[in-house]
Amino acid sequence: MEVVIVAGPVEVGAFAAGRIAEIVAAKPEAVLGVATGSSPLETYRALAARRDAGLDLSRVSAFALDEYVGIAHDHPESYHAVVDREVVQPLGLDAARVRVPNGLAADLDAAADDYEAQIAAAGGVDVQLLGIGGNGHIGFNEPTSSLASRTRVKTLAPATREANARFFDSLDQVPMHCLTQGLGTILDAKRALLVAQGASKAHAIAQIVEGPVSSMWPGSVLQLHRHATIVIDEAAASEL
Ligand code: GLP
Repeated sequence: MEVVIVAGPVEVGAFAAGRIAEIVAAKPEAVLGVATGSSPLETYRALAARRDAGLDLSRVSAFALDEYVGIAHDHPESYHAVVDREVVQPLGLDAARVRVPNGLAADLDAAADDYEAQIAAAGGVDVQLLGIGGNGHIGFNEPTSSLASRTRVKTLAPATREANARFFDSLDQVPMHCLTQGLGTILDAKRALLVAQGASKAHAIAQIVEGPVSSMWPGSVLQLHRHATIVIDEAAASEL
């Protein structure tokens, strides 16, 4: 596991975008794994600047990590809408090459299997961008997630629903369930790039970097990945 500590959030984004840009420059049809949440926003901003400077992102494909179950795709906080607004539009990606799990499927287990099949058909993810929850979740793999898990339905932890309530009118509007790539799915990405900023992530970062590999801190599974990079600012590194 490579740990890169930089000054602040802007530097985290710049470093992560540089890594992604190198991969896309070498393989213009690269498959990106994209994450929602506030953590990767500086990375998307820095990537958009690289695109303005000539990086061609028009041929990349992208797979989102997760989606809420049961909210309309055009709901502004559905991850379909978030990925479109925060990733596809600013980066000028081809929307036809961008996939988000279908949390509205009548058969969610089949939708999960189909998502895995789509990732495999694309040749796998070249670089998976990740944020981390304060409880150590990656994607929506909450504590106790199997380290070998594949895309499936999960119940959101109360702490995650409370953290994400800021995006909704009230806590009871935050969905109870999600479809998320599993930890095994994430481990299959050729490279993993986790970004975190701020003191609120410091404990989770210390656990996943220096603690044991444990389903109680799902991000710790990245210790098993051959090419995992953790890019954090000084505040997020403060408990290392
Ligand atoms: C969300 C997402 C995760 C994200 C995490 C942290 O619920 N499902 O992919 O990494 O929580 O969010 P933030 O970056 O806003 O702190």
